[in-house]
Amino acid sequence: MPSIAIVGTQWGDEGKGRITDLLARKMNFVVRFQGGDNAGHTVVLKDEEFKLHLIPSGILSAEVVCVIGNGVVINPEVLIREIEQLHQRGISTKNLKVSCNAHLIMPYHIMLDKAGERKLGTSKIGTTHKGIGPVYSDKAARAGIRTQDLLDLKIFKTKLEESLKIKNAILSKVYDLEPLDAKEIFDRYCDYAEKIKELITDTSFLLNQALDANQKVLFEGAQGSMLDIDYGTYPFVTSSCTLAGGAYMGAGIGPGRIDEVLGVAKAYTTRVGSGPFPTEEEGEVGDFMRKRGHEYGTTTGRPRRCGWLDVLVLKYAIMLNQLDSIALTKLDVLTGLEQLKICTGYRYEGKFYENLPTNQTIMHKCQPVYETVDGWDADLTAIKDINDLPPAARQYITRIEELVKVPVSMVSVGPERSQIIVKDNNFKSQTFDRGFTAII
Ligand code: GDP
Ligand code: IMO
Ligand code: MG
Repeated sequence: MPSIAIVGTQWGDEGKGRITDLLARKMNFVVRFQGGDNAGHTVVLKDEEFKLHLIPSGILSAEVVCVIGNGVVINPEVLIREIEQLHQRGISTKNLKVSCNAHLIMPYHIMLDKAGERKLGTSKIGTTHKGIGPVYSDKAARAGIRTQDLLDLKIFKTKLEESLKIKNAILSKVYDLEPLDAKEIFDRYCDYAEKIKELITDTSFLLNQALDANQKVLFEGAQGSMLDIDYGTYPFVTSSCTLAGGAYMGAGIGPGRIDEVLGVAKAYTTRVGSGPFPTEEEGEVGDFMRKRGHEYGTTTGRPRRCGWLDVLVLKYAIMLNQLDSIALTKLDVLTGLEQLKICTGYRYEGKFYENLPTNQTIMHKCQPVYETVDGWDADLTAIKDINDLPPAARQYITRIEELVKVPVSMVSVGPERSQIIVKDNNFKSQTFDRGFTAII
C-alpha cells in the first residue's frame, strides 16, 4: 500500500499543487481530504497554467483517479465550473469521484462568512469569503447538508428549509441582510445534483480497496500547518485539519495507511490574511519577494505578505506531520539578494525561544533572531542537478537541513513541471522503490 501525503508546512501556497502534479504521474489515486475552494493550487505545464481549487492536482495525469474526500467542503457551483473549464482545455474528468459524506457549501455559508468578517472590522481573519468557517461550523453542529442529500431531493429540501429558518433569522436580524428564498436555492441545487450525481460515491471504501490492492495513493493537503484549526495561529486559521493526520479522517482510512509524508516549504515565507508572522518583511525585501515570486493569492488575488524563512515554523510542521522530507520550492525567487536571513529563534522580554512559544502573544510581539547567509546572483531556473546550483544556494539548503534535521528531497526552481531538482539520496523508505527519482 504505497501511499504518500503532501502537506503545506507554512501558511499555505507553498507549491503543494505543483509537487502533487509531479508525483501524480506515477500514482493511481490523488485525494483531497480537507478544505474547499479556499485552496488555489497552481500547476504549470509548458506554457499552460491551471489553477485548481477543488479538484485534486492529479487531474492533469489522464489515468489517475481523483478523489474529493469526505473531509472536503464542496461548493457545487465551483466544482461544476472547474470541471467545465478543464473540459474546455481538453482535460478529462472521467476519473473524478466525490465522497457521499462531504458537506455542501450553501449560499448562506458564503453570506455569513462575508458578513462575519465585515462585522469583525479591523480584527477580521481575512478569510477567502468562500463560506469555509460557516460550513464546517454547521458540520460540527450536525446541521450540515451533504452531497448524498443531493441524491434524495426530498431530504435535501427538508434540510434546506430547516436550515434556512435559522440562517434567515441570523442574516436579517444580526446582519441586516435580505433573507434567502428556499425555492430559488432548491431549484439551483437540483440543477447541480443532476450534473454531479454520477460522481458521488463512497470514496472511503474505494480508497481502502485501492490500498488493499497495493495501488499508489497520494493525499494532497490544502492550506498549511500554521493554518490548522488546532495547531495554527488561531483564530487566524482555516477551519479544518490541514495536517497529515487530517488525511486519515478526511479520506476515511486508518492509521498506518500512509507510508511517507512530504512537507512542502517555500524557500522564504508568505501568508495571506491576518495573524502573526514574525519574519514578515514589510519593506524592500518583502516587495522583492512579492514581485519576483508573483506572490498574489491564487484564489483571491490579494497580495501575499512576504518574509524570511522561519525555522521555528518548519520544525513545528515537521513535528506535527512527522515529515520524512521537505520539498523546498521557489528557490529561484531569492536570486539577486545579496544576503539571506534564516530565522532560528524569537526573542521576547529578554528570553530566547528556539521553538514556537506556547503563548501566541509572544509570536505577535517577538523579535525574530536571524542567522545571515550569503545570497547568489545566478539564474537557477534551468538547473536540473543539485551540484550545478551556485555554492551559496547549496549552502542555504544544507543549512536548512542542519537546522531542521530533516532532509530536503527536492528543490523547485520555477513553476513549470520540469523545473525541479531531485536530491536523490533523500527519501525515507522503499515506498517507491528508489525514492522520488523513480517516480518522477
Ligand atoms: P499551493 O496552494 O501550495 O499549491 O501553491 P500556489 O499554487 O497557491 O502558489 C504557488 C505559486 O508559486 C504558484 O503560482 C506556482 O506556479 C508558483 N511556483 C511553484 N513553484 C515555484 C518555483 O519553484 N519557482 C517559482 N518562481 N514559482 C513557483
Ligand atoms: P492553499 O491550499 C493560503 C487563509 C486565508 C485566511 C485564513 C482563513 O492554496 O495553500 P478561510 O477562507 O479558509 O476561512 O480563510 O486562511 N487561507 C489560505 N492561505 N493558501 C490557502 O490555500 C488558504 N486557504 C485559506 O487567507 O487567512
Ligand atoms: Mg494556493
